[in-house]
Amino acid sequence: EKGGYEHFMLKEIYEQPKAVRDTLNPRLKDKEINIEELGMSDEDICKIKKILIIACGSAYHAGITGKYVLEGLARIPVEVDLASEFRYRNPIYEPDSLAIIISQSGETADSLAALREAKNHGVRVLGIVNVVGSSIAREADNVMYTWAGPEISVATTKAYSAQLAALYLLTLKFAKVRGVITQDRYLSLQSDLIQLPEQIENLLGMKEKIQRFANRYLAADHMFFIGRGIDYAISLEGSLKLKEISYIHSEAYAAGELKHGTISLIEDNTLVVALATQEQLYPKTISNIVEVKTRGAFVLAVTNFGHKEIEKNADYVIYIPKTDNFFTNSLAIVPLQLFAYYISLGRGLDVDKPRNLAKSVTVE
Ligand code: F6R
Repeated sequence: EKGGYEHFMLKEIYEQPKAVRDTLNPRLKDKEINIEELGMSDEDICKIKKILIIACGSAYHAGITGKYVLEGLARIPVEVDLASEFRYRNPIYEPDSLAIIISQSGETADSLAALREAKNHGVRVLGIVNVVGSSIAREADNVMYTWAGPEISVATTKAYSAQLAALYLLTLKFAKVRGVITQDRYLSLQSDLIQLPEQIENLLGMKEKIQRFANRYLAADHMFFIGRGIDYAISLEGSLKLKEISYIHSEAYAAGELKHGTISLIEDNTLVVALATQEQLYPKTISNIVEVKTRGAFVLAVTNFGHKEIEKNADYVIYIPKTDNFFTNSLAIVPLQLFAYYISLGRGLDVDKPRNLAKSVTVE
């Protein structure tokens, strides 16, 4: 049951510290990362030439984050595909590829079909799955479970956060085995990982602040989410959360791509949620904030604690605690989930069961 929460979605948002902790902790021991269920020797890991991440919806967005993290830290080329595209696009299979299918339910028809397609071409398949014993878990060569527990709300929150955690572990493991990060970096990334659950917990404390802010935008027609790099990946997920439960149209854009079209949609008071968690990209994202503000946008920025400068340009700022640049999505997603939740609540909608959507999509 809902355990005192008004909706499963809010309950599940609050269960994220536990979901992330339960996914991380059993695999972090004695300053090493143990993912026995991978079933891959160090030699197997060193041989990987390419990773194919395949999923739908939010799991696909977790996969996009995975691409940035795996390429950035483990230096393995990654392609991310929507399962419904992958299965029909006649992809080019190369030897020594690893396919990773990400799915909360483990029953998504397109993801399962993509799994079979990859397997039939001799590609080793790893499932990152939440539901134990589900079809994808059974058919994958190996399964790395996300330990988020049952997720009821149609809009995924804790399973998505657990997927990110699983991808971080996999990345650190691969980076270490392949010898592409120093021991110091390996240890500092681990210590940042261990802090994530508590940092997520702290962010939940901003719920009232976010509700007050959300209440100003209940009648909006459309919104934009912008960011660069990993912040673009989280923009996609923030935008999906919002539109699926609030029915407000929204778009996520790579911030640098705005001027190639979307900026023509910015009008007086259009809300633009700007993600700016990557220090090396601050100046670039700020210049995009200035561009939309010049066209009348109201800018809500999500940035790192201490980046006070941004207050000169953004209208409203939400700060997230300090973590490694590669892990910021795990923190930035929390205010975005709460924002979507309170918009939906304020509009009097069925938060847990948005119209036309099913929790598990078992038809293509
Ligand atoms: C969005 C959402 C969907 C799912 C997608 C994949 O909140 O829940 O986009 O992420 O349908 O589902 P799974 O992960 O079960 O394969």
